[in-house]
Amino acid sequence: MFIHNRHRRLRQNESIRSMIRENHLSTNDFILPLFIAEGKDVRVEIPSMPGIYRNSLENVVKEAKEAWDLGIKSVNLYCKVSDSLKDNTGKEAWNPNGLMQNTIKAIKDACPEMIIMPDVALDPYSIYGHDGIVENGRVINDATVDALVRMSLSHAEAGADFLAPSDMMDGRIGAMRDALEENGFDNVGIMSYAAKYASSFYGPFREALDSAPVDTMDIPKDKKTYQMDFHNAEEALREAIADVEEGADILMVKPGMAYLDIVRLVKENLQVPVSVYQVSGEYAMIKAAAEKGWIEHDKIMLETLTCMKRAGADLITTYFAKEAARLLNDR
Ligand code: PBG
Repeated sequence: MFIHNRHRRLRQNESIRSMIRENHLSTNDFILPLFIAEGKDVRVEIPSMPGIYRNSLENVVKEAKEAWDLGIKSVNLYCKVSDSLKDNTGKEAWNPNGLMQNTIKAIKDACPEMIIMPDVALDPYSIYGHDGIVENGRVINDATVDALVRMSLSHAEAGADFLAPSDMMDGRIGAMRDALEENGFDNVGIMSYAAKYASSFYGPFREALDSAPVDTMDIPKDKKTYQMDFHNAEEALREAIADVEEGADILMVKPGMAYLDIVRLVKENLQVPVSVYQVSGEYAMIKAAAEKGWIEHDKIMLETLTCMKRAGADLITTYFAKEAARLLNDR
């Protein structure tokens, strides 16, 4: 038999496979999400996210240092504040002595080269669990953008390197960029959640932050009026183009595994760094199936992360960052 193209020739052993490999996972690719809680000596594991903790400040600093020592260059920060600090305006979000602001300073002190990316959205500070201010049963856009701008400036003042707005309000990137420029924060970047879908994959995260939308009359019970409809792809491109025009430095697509077509679409059409978020539900599914012995944890972890790179992601926000880094460092 004479076959012109024997594709298997390039797969016949690990040496040749490793030589022609197209994509490589590295610790430089990872952004580690960290959950911060009020109080002292707090370290509570999130039931649906084994290995992930809600930490008080001194413990979160330890986690950040460990991550840095493993080669991880960036952290995303999320705070859980007590109900007494929540209202409809989310004003605790820009308290200069708030939990987020103090965490940013503490991590900067302990780990000055770590790229700190605080989450910008009102939901952990909202009595209604929404990413915006609620009025007459609706999440209102422009007043929310004003609040996000105040929040952004307080993060920049505390020492944030990049702001990570995950709220999906319209026009917020431009408003944030203007405010940063006007206030001397021209070096502070924006990683915009450009295509963030209204997804059921966020369940465990909302448990971690106690931030699910409340089920009360006259309050929207889901986030579908601002997060995207998962039936749509073209719309993601419109969102992405708008965010680049408004001044975003990095675009985020979220969730990850079920949305890799969107990563590819954005990457192919806009030559900007793209980041993908392997969200809490994806992490939970892998952990749960592995616990049952139904899948091989480490292999599935590295496969999913590598496939995100193959889809076009430059960066991956993942709860697996430390575990994956350990494996990569041992290779
Ligand atoms: C909130 C926010 C969410 C996530 C990141 N920022 C939840 C939501 O939109 O309800 C989800 C992350 C995850 O599931 O891991 N602004």
